[in-house]
Amino acid sequence: MIEASAPGKIILFGEHAVVYGRPAIAAPVHSLKAIAKIELIKGSAFPGVRDQVADAVSAEDHPPSSLYIHAPDIGLSGWLHAIDPGARLAKILRKSLELLQGDQFPSFKLTIKSDIPPESGLGSSAAISVAMLKAMAEYLGEDLSLESLIGHAYELEKIHHGTPSGIDNTVVAYEKLIRFVRDQEPQPLQVGEAFAFVIADTGVPSPTGTVVGQVRDAWQADQDRFERLFSQIGSITADAIRALDRGDQEDLGRLMNQNQTLLEDIGVSSPAITTLLQAAQSAGSLGAKLSGAGLGGNVIALVDPRTSGAVETALRQAGAQWIQQTTIGA
Ligand code: PMV
Repeated sequence: MIEASAPGKIILFGEHAVVYGRPAIAAPVHSLKAIAKIELIKGSAFPGVRDQVADAVSAEDHPPSSLYIHAPDIGLSGWLHAIDPGARLAKILRKSLELLQGDQFPSFKLTIKSDIPPESGLGSSAAISVAMLKAMAEYLGEDLSLESLIGHAYELEKIHHGTPSGIDNTVVAYEKLIRFVRDQEPQPLQVGEAFAFVIADTGVPSPTGTVVGQVRDAWQADQDRFERLFSQIGSITADAIRALDRGDQEDLGRLMNQNQTLLEDIGVSSPAITTLLQAAQSAGSLGAKLSGAGLGGNVIALVDPRTSGAVETALRQAGAQWIQQTTIGA
């Protein structure tokens, strides 16, 4: 059996502006995981099959080089060749095989499980793609470099989200706090001391592609204004890198609030987001903002370990559907 995993992620600064070439900061969330597991299907003997995948799971009839997908989280199980070819997961699996040049292989069962809430700005689709590509590459005997993993996962993100910047697949594959600029190598960032965040879900699903499309329409209608907003976010991100480096909690919190104000100007905040942000601030958070595409999804609040419990309670009382804590630089 082969198993691979990838973490969730949060965007600390720069979402949306990053689509338009400005820098952003993202961090992996290791307590959240997508897992891809591969088992050889009985009756698929093939020269060169690796010993550790000899776990037989099914003797059902199937053509050679078949993939059986088992995705219990979305209630889907079946042979890839029998799934509607227009279904997103089918497109993703076919693209993955194409990218990994998997045309002839011993048939296998791929199980995908994830505890990352989907469509909530936590990188669920990117984590599933990265975990799946890592497991499939190992099974197919392909030595996948980090750069190819990021590139392949970007191709899959395009199927999910249309025109993503590439930040999600990059941070999830890289598994480090990074500064990300579109079409550039990610830069790992240093932190002067640990920063603790509470992540809280509005419970409102927010498909990234739709929100990015709405921002694009608004940008097209008033490019000067939106370019100015994106540049302001870009300079906040640059200041945030310095605040992280100094370990300056107060400054980072203040910059998060400023970034949130600009995200409101862009039009991607929502009443549910505002309710959670106000609850976090009144319970002592040092700064808070939406994280990801917005119009739902998750918010992140920077907390002092002494007030994190109070912030968590306030967020629950304000209607957060799900809460998690994460630390950067611990
Ligand atoms: O997938 P999400 O919801 O975390 O959004 C990613 C960040 C955006 O800047 C909104 C989109 C992108 O591709 O960078």
